[in-house]
Amino acid sequence: MEGAEVDVWHSSPDGLYENQDPAQAEMNLRGRFSTDSAGQFSFKSVKPAGYPIPLDGPVGELVKATGRHNYRPAHLHFMIYKQGYKTLISQIYAPDDEHIDSDVQFGVTRALIGDFVLHDEPAPELGFAAPWYSLEQRFVMELGEARRPRAPIRSKAQARAD
Ligand SMILES: [Fe+2]
Repeated sequence: MEGAEVDVWHSSPDGLYENQDPAQAEMNLRGRFSTDSAGQFSFKSVKPAGYPIPLDGPVGELVKATGRHNYRPAHLHFMIYKQGYKTLISQIYAPDDEHIDSDVQFGVTRALIGDFVLHDEPAPELGFAAPWYSLEQRFVMELGEARRPRAPIRSKAQARAD
C-alpha cells in the first residue's frame, strides 16, 4: 500500500545503538520512510550485529537463573503505521548470527528470519564495495485501529519541543 510510514532502527556493526555509543551521531541508524505508489520503500545501511542485553536488575537476575547467555541475534526493527491498519511492530533477524537459534528474548521465529543475500561483486551504482548484502522483506498489514506508540528514544531537538 502507498503512504505507510515505516520507522526503522538497528544497532551498529559493533552491536551498539546510537544512544549507547558516544562515537555515533545522534539518531544514527534510525530513519522514517514512506512507502511509494508500489507499496515499497528501500534504504542503504550497514549490517547490524547482535548484542548482549544488560544483566542488571530483575531481567538480569532471571537470565542468570536460567543459565542462558544474554545475547540477541542481529536484527532490524520495523514499525509500520497507516491509518485504518493495526500498527505493525516487528524485527527481522540475520540468519548467520551465532545466536539465531538461542535468542535470549525468544523473539526469533522462522518467518522473521530475513533472506540476507551475500553479494561477492561490488555494486558501484549503489556505492558498495564487495562483499555486501541485500535484504528484501514483505510486510502484511491487518485492518484495524492504527496506534503509534511514543518512541522511547527521542532526539535532543524533539525532547526540547516537548
Ligand atoms: Fe534491538
